[in-house]
Amino acid sequence: MSPKAEFHDRMLSLGLARVAEQAALASAHWVGRGDEKAADQAAVNAMREQLNLLEIAGVVVIGEGERDEAPMLYIGEEVGTGEGPGVDIALDPLEGTTLTAKDMPNALTVIAMGPRGSMLHAPDVYMDKLAVGPGYPTDVVSLDMSPKERVEALAAAKGCKTEDITVCILERPRHADIIAEVRATGASIRLITDGDVAGVMHCAEADVTGIDMYMGQGGAPEGVLAASALKCMGGQIWGRLLFRNDDERGRAAKAGITDLNRIYARDEMVTQDVIFAATGVTSGSLVEGIKTEPGWATTETLLMRSKSGSVRRMTYRTPV
Ligand code: FBP
Repeated sequence: MSPKAEFHDRMLSLGLARVAEQAALASAHWVGRGDEKAADQAAVNAMREQLNLLEIAGVVVIGEGERDEAPMLYIGEEVGTGEGPGVDIALDPLEGTTLTAKDMPNALTVIAMGPRGSMLHAPDVYMDKLAVGPGYPTDVVSLDMSPKERVEALAAAKGCKTEDITVCILERPRHADIIAEVRATGASIRLITDGDVAGVMHCAEADVTGIDMYMGQGGAPEGVLAASALKCMGGQIWGRLLFRNDDERGRAAKAGITDLNRIYARDEMVTQDVIFAATGVTSGSLVEGIKTEPGWATTETLLMRSKSGSVRRMTYRTPV
């Protein structure tokens, strides 16, 4: 990358942080008000408005849904001024709409940007996910192993007992068997009610969060966002798309996916360097949520570039 392009890349990363901040600020009013839709819409509007100020020729690859379902930030929407580098954008203006509506931890606004063609066009289906933090061999665990085998393999690699492993899993009826099998190994489980992007990211900071491994089925778009985050933080994620019906298989075909059973590793979901920004809406173990005081609001944003390995935590105080 030329010095000029490198400078532009750095400036863009700050621009991306502003996009995440503004989306979080817009949804702040809706924290704890029981209205998921309004919270999401406020974040979508603000994210789109800010994104369109950036000097990029951007295309939304991971967005709010198919064009006919989502009027804004739909998959394929062109964003930015149209001048500047061609980039792929993956976004979730409000990751954890229910967490926001119920004022529960770890609701985030999330956005990632990489060169055009660098991100998996994951359709809006479920993905079976498995993630671990940095420092393990690339084949330490796999989606083809049973949950028990994964816990045992990770414990062996970490040099500890299975009882000393903590696994993060979304609390859903579909995960009852995985939960029972992991419990039978003696490992502990951190159940989360929503927000598996944060759940996966927690593996990258195991010493802070206490979470060694993430497993279970969640949104495929969130899988690509989590892969972007781990590309910056270190750690591995694997994902396999899951299809429940012909409509979902049709979505895959539309996204150009032919091998429906393929397991995607982190660097196959995000093939080039990426910039990732997430702002806290409600407080959690990754970032603080929005704090308000008369006339002011303060946000915390995690801004990371995989190219440099830089991780910034930025506090932003603004009059409201
Ligand atoms: P939303 O913010 O779109 O509601 O998504 C939250 C989330 O928990 C994701 O983090 C996760 O991937 C997905 O929903 C799980 O889907 P489901 O609620 O259908 O199990």
